[in-house]
Amino acid sequence: MIVFLHKVINKIKDGYIKEMFIEGKWILKYVKLYRKSVIFYILLGILGTAMSFASSVASKYLIDAITGYDLSNTTFIVVTIIFMGVGSIATTAFSSRISAKINLRVDKEIQCMVYDNIMTSDWEELNYYRTGDLLNRLTGDVSTVSTAVLGWIPNLITRLVQFIGAFSIIIYYDYTMAVIPLISAPISIILSKHLLNKMKSYNVKMRNVSSEVMAFNDESFQNLLSIKALGLCDYFTNKLRAVQCKYIDTSLEYNKFSVYTSAFMSLIGMVIAYMCFGWGAYRLWSGIITFGTMILFLQLSSSLSSSFNSLLSLIPSAVSATTSAGRIMELTTLPHETIKTDSALHKLIKKQSHGITIEIRNLTFKYKNSRNILVNVNIYAKPGEVIALVGPSGQGKTTLLSILLGVIKPPPATAILKNYQGIICEASAATRPLFSYVPQSNTMFCGTIAENLRLVNPAATDDDIINALNITCAYEFVSKLPKGIHSIIGEKGCGLSVGQNQRLAIARAILKDSPILLLDEATSALDVETEERVLRNIMAVYQNRTCIVATHRPSVLKLCNRIYKVENKCITQI
Ligand SMILES: Nc1ncnc2c1ncn2[C@@H]1O[C@H](COP(=O)(O)OP(=O)(O)OP(=O)(O)O)[C@@H](O)[C@H]1O
Ligand SMILES: [Mg+2]
Repeated sequence: MIVFLHKVINKIKDGYIKEMFIEGKWILKYVKLYRKSVIFYILLGILGTAMSFASSVASKYLIDAITGYDLSNTTFIVVTIIFMGVGSIATTAFSSRISAKINLRVDKEIQCMVYDNIMTSDWEELNYYRTGDLLNRLTGDVSTVSTAVLGWIPNLITRLVQFIGAFSIIIYYDYTMAVIPLISAPISIILSKHLLNKMKSYNVKMRNVSSEVMAFNDESFQNLLSIKALGLCDYFTNKLRAVQCKYIDTSLEYNKFSVYTSAFMSLIGMVIAYMCFGWGAYRLWSGIITFGTMILFLQLSSSLSSSFNSLLSLIPSAVSATTSAGRIMELTTLPHETIKTDSALHKLIKKQSHGITIEIRNLTFKYKNSRNILVNVNIYAKPGEVIALVGPSGQGKTTLLSILLGVIKPPPATAILKNYQGIICEASAATRPLFSYVPQSNTMFCGTIAENLRLVNPAATDDDIINALNITCAYEFVSKLPKGIHSIIGEKGCGLSVGQNQRLAIARAILKDSPILLLDEATSALDVETEERVLRNIMAVYQNRTCIVATHRPSVLKLCNRIYKVENKCITQI
């Protein structure tokens, strides 16, 4: 028998349900974190339920008194009813205050945890996700989970208490009445696995389509200018409608399933309610129960069916919460950047002012699921040198810089940083503080120019900032802005030209004051004369620093100590 039961339980826990158990356990972590408040909330719920039962029983005695059946304790009964009513209002008020507090805290806590995880996740792995999808998980899924932390377990307990309480009172006054609702139990058990699996698969589909809509909107807004310029407004508007149609179709499919399921369950509920009513009426007619007991039964049967419906409604919310938890867990279990600090790294950082030599040794690299980008390549760059990486588009210049930054992982012992004492470290996330980097794309944030620059050096004074801006010939236009360095720029540097943003980005890299500077097409939007002035200024202040410039511009090359051409997976010095 036990073996059979074990088999049945294992079968029920298979597939999606097994997943739900794991995801449910993850949510439980947060319930535990706020256990004191959650327990208080549950106790309030139970108190509220107990008061409503007491009120029901008191009503029975009041009706028995009014119908002349039992006249004792009438005052006590009336006082009890009033007290229970007021108490129930107070507990509801308390509960909603506590639930608001916990909801907000859990929501923000999980959001911060997911955000931190995204920030420290392996960059290549993260690239498989669209930003809209990440946003959707960070907001929608987190909100579903945080609601479940307080909504689910406490509701389950209070509803169960309500259900068991109503059931017990019915048994106390007439046990035959309690047998009727039990008839539905076998039907529910048989249906549960099938319904749960179906519900879970609908939920997964729904969340994925919702991410698709969010990703589409996010990508459209990020590229609004291109969409307008390419005359694609109609195309994108129609595409949005198509994505929305997909969302509506999936929602309606799920809705159809929910409507059928709940109609079927309601039907069972109704049959049971009528059976109870009929049985109660028969017992009243036979004189076995009083009129007050019949009223009590009616009240309790409504409480029984409402708690049963609430328990049923917890199933879809559990499925939805576990689906969202699964999507969040997926992000939190992404591989993380490993930041290994050892004595060599400490020495490298401590003595960084003496300069750092970069060496790429016999590097062969490919992205995950792709062909080789670089095969057995070698380069080096010493302090005081400016090295150029040239070559056709798509050959691996940015890839090489990303390897040095430790954003993507090369094979061991292929990307090396060395100081004047010969101390060696492999390029990784841990060596990133040694770099200043200006990427190919715009990286300004919404805020003032000074705020943008201070991100990398919070202690920088206004003079330091102006100095950095002067080096990159940016102060020429910044000084003409009404508020100078305190002028506000928009998202991605909106309000400034591409060349102006590039000069600000280089100024920020200079303000970081690191021993290595990586410029990836960072001056591509500048006129040749400004570009030359910027680079000469950088060289003047970066005397003991190592500088690598990826460029397509011949004008830059004459300023460099060495030029490497990246082409056909090879790097050759020219
Ligand atoms: N995240 C990625 N996953 C897979 N392949 C990638 C990824 N990023 C770049 N690649 C591939 O690596 C190759 C080199 O890209 P990379 O950006 O390094 O070229 P690049 O030399 O900097 O080109 P450009 O001069 O146009 O900036 C390209 O063929 C590109 O398709
Ligand atoms: Mg590039």
